[in-house]
Amino acid sequence: MPVVSGSSAKGLAKDLAKELDWQHVQIESRRFPDTEGYVRIPEASIDSLRNQDVVVVSNTFPDSGIVETLLSLEAIADVRAGRLDSLKGGEESGNDVGPGIYLAIPYFGYSRQDKRFQKGEAISAKALGRIFANHCDGIIVLDLHAPVALEGLSVPVSFVSAMPELAVHLQEVVKPDFILSPDKGAIERASSVAQAIGCKFSYLEKTRIDAHNIVHKAKDLDVEGAIVAIVDDMISTGGTICKASEALHTQGAIEVHAACTHGLFTGGAISRLDQHVDGVHATNSLANPRSVISGGKALARGVRQMLGL
Ligand code: R5P
Repeated sequence: MPVVSGSSAKGLAKDLAKELDWQHVQIESRRFPDTEGYVRIPEASIDSLRNQDVVVVSNTFPDSGIVETLLSLEAIADVRAGRLDSLKGGEESGNDVGPGIYLAIPYFGYSRQDKRFQKGEAISAKALGRIFANHCDGIIVLDLHAPVALEGLSVPVSFVSAMPELAVHLQEVVKPDFILSPDKGAIERASSVAQAIGCKFSYLEKTRIDAHNIVHKAKDLDVEGAIVAIVDDMISTGGTICKASEALHTQGAIEVHAACTHGLFTGGAISRLDQHVDGVHATNSLANPRSVISGGKALARGVRQMLGL
């Protein structure tokens, strides 16, 4: 079966195709001078996209990724439905081969606006989920910040996590004695890593003041002389990790690493992190300078779960 990618997740789509032993198809994508996007399925791949189910790997971040994802899904839906209306030069339409388009989203943009924090706000994660659900037959999402945001969509959603792969990587490279979740939201993910490695675990309680400032409630952590890995779903400004690392160093940790699925690393995060931790480890869900873990195995679990393979 084909695994299709556009401009945002080519490496991961190739990893996924390899995991599943499927064919990788690269969609042509480019930008017009005014920055608007353009996608096209190569003519040589049209038949394979009509003959079998299709998995489209596409990030919905940054905003241009949302448009590219929608255009890719629409182009695939058109070729599968045999729609050739308004084609320059004209050609007869083909038959409709029916449903079978699945969207795999490595990094789901807007996932953190998962509820109404104040009156008058849109629940952005849900809004995007509904739009994508209208253009495919199922969605696979890697380490979605809050899965509840995509509950009740009109198509099935498969939630998968790269934490098993993070655990393997940390065990091989860092050999941590202790895993720390930097807030309550990451407890489930981080504790699964601690369990897989078989080491100690704890969490911090975080209060976010604004996008750049957070405070942690003081807590005694048993980290004297320990190598610690802080595990989170994503790192953006790095503020959460840097604060947690300060608490760990104050309490005697000898080495602190940060590991996450989604390495956003915005606004100087990498240099900030380099001053606070001994290593940063992320997956290739997004192109980033600390991508050392493939999300291919995790996405493959989601595809198998979705298709009952
Ligand atoms: C929020 O709860 C997330 O899990 C991350 O902890 C957060 O997005 C990290 O953001 P930053 O790196 O800007 O502190």
